[in-house]
Amino acid sequence: MSDYLLEVKNLTKRFPIKGGLFGKEVAAVKAVNNVSFKIKKGETLGLVGESGCGKTTLGRSILRLIEPTSGEIFFNGEDIVKFESDRLRQVRRKMQIIFQDPYASLNPRMTVGAILSEPMEIHKLNIGKEVRKKRLYELLDQVQLPKDALNKYPHEFSGGQRQRVCIARALAVEPEFIVCDEPVSALDVSVQAQVVNLLMDLQKDLGLTYLFIAHDLKVVEYISSRVAVMYLGNMVEVAESHELYGGSRHPYTKALFSAIPQPNPNIKHDRILLEGDIPSPMNPPTGCHFHPRCWQANDECKQTYPSITNQSETHEYKCHNPIQL
Ligand SMILES: Nc1ncnc2c1ncn2[C@@H]1O[C@H](COP(=O)(O)OP(=O)(O)OP(=O)(O)O)[C@@H](O)[C@H]1O
Ligand SMILES: [Mg+2]
Repeated sequence: MSDYLLEVKNLTKRFPIKGGLFGKEVAAVKAVNNVSFKIKKGETLGLVGESGCGKTTLGRSILRLIEPTSGEIFFNGEDIVKFESDRLRQVRRKMQIIFQDPYASLNPRMTVGAILSEPMEIHKLNIGKEVRKKRLYELLDQVQLPKDALNKYPHEFSGGQRQRVCIARALAVEPEFIVCDEPVSALDVSVQAQVVNLLMDLQKDLGLTYLFIAHDLKVVEYISSRVAVMYLGNMVEVAESHELYGGSRHPYTKALFSAIPQPNPNIKHDRILLEGDIPSPMNPPTGCHFHPRCWQANDECKQTYPSITNQSETHEYKCHNPIQL
């Protein structure tokens, strides 16, 4: 059996833009392009990149909440892109998602008890009433919410508590893999650390594997064993999180990580300000998509898209003219 729970190969997602009288495809947003990566069992892979670079599209495509245009997604060694109805439902039980906004993702008319029971019903976990009640209390305990939460409605909770309800809902069907799509971005800073620590404790206790999407690089560095960096639909660098700060080879990663504030003012730290806007994913630049904003770009970068360079077993990047370490 392989060490990898998830192996994504050449995943691509295009959103067609239709227009004209007959609704013909007039253009396409290339949201995710030929993305390949692996996640080991029990590991957290962080996913970072500017807004619109395709993080959410990638996360949702992996769970087939949106259908990938092409590519393969091996989960426990099986390509789930080929799965239909029954098998897809079975595998979905093992793969869950937690969203950014705990306000929008809970039905305001359902009690927490009903919210947590729903996934068990959908997945036909036919357990008796008594066993289910025990399971609901166990879930609340796992996310550190009090027992009386069962009969309350989402509006009776704070943002952090609601996100705990969302986490409990994801856990209800005993998943192996969870896509965490900016799970703490909408929360107060003081609450963010509690929720991140809860996710880390749950990972340890339940052996979970995460894809953790976030804007906040500090949070990503803290929770992830490895980090993947996306730019305009492409994965441009993947490395162990401690390697990326100071050891990144892709100029985009370097710029992104140079923006993290350093607590120690004595450490020399040059902040790199990227110039220019993010290009449109409908019409990406030729060659390396980052070249119009890159201070290292040469002629080759303008013409050909770089292939993968393996710096080490855990570190790879796509760049013709990488940062010299
Ligand atoms: N349903 C859709 N139809 C057309 N375009 C879409 C659709 N969903 C996303 N996109 C486009 O795909 C690209 C990637 O979007 P996505 O939401 O995956 O980015 P993201 O990295 O998650 O951004 P953010 O950090 O803001 O959450 C964007 O250009 C977006 O406008
Ligand atoms: Mg997103």
